[in-house]
Amino acid sequence: MVVLMDKLIFETDAFSPDETSGSGAKLACEILNNSSLPRFVALRGDLGAGKTEFTRGFASVASPGSFVKSPTYALVNEYKKGKIPLFHFDIYRLSDEDDLYSTGYFDYLDRGICLVEWFQNIPECLPDSYFEVVIDKINDGAARHISVYLR
Ligand SMILES: Nc1ncnc2c1ncn2[C@@H]1O[C@H](COP(=O)(O)OP(=O)(O)O)[C@@H](O)[C@H]1O
Ligand SMILES: [Mg+2]
Repeated sequence: MVVLMDKLIFETDAFSPDETSGSGAKLACEILNNSSLPRFVALRGDLGAGKTEFTRGFASVASPGSFVKSPTYALVNEYKKGKIPLFHFDIYRLSDEDDLYSTGYFDYLDRGICLVEWFQNIPECLPDSYFEVVIDKINDGAARHISVYLR
């Protein structure tokens, strides 16, 4: 299979939190079933967009039975009920690349699948290739538009 970079992988409208997590589950299936795909997911969306909800669905496939909560204060939550570990980051509170080094951020990248909220605050956190998930509120905040790209 030829993997094309900078491609839209899928997009959908999600009309409930369950549909948002369903998109996360779908991406997890793709990644787990194809070892040539990046194991890094960059999550873009405003506060309350659904980044953590998407991660919840991702974890339901990649680490079944895990209780996913926001890592805002922990920096990273680890889920280890799957074949490879899942690391869920929220780097909102970090300010620069030095913070990434001092927290040990880069040591995680090779050790499992990483999902990162607020990656755009410190672009140095991104590996060479990754999935970018863009979540936008639609219908006055009642639903979400979700686009998944391979960068
Ligand atoms: N498709 C959707 N429709 C309506 N509400 C949603 C949808 N997806 C997620 N939500 C809700 O949005 C809120 C914020 O989600 P969360 O994942 O915590 O956002 P973020 O991590 O981006 O700040 C939650 O209450 C969640 O259930
Ligand atoms: Mg969140």
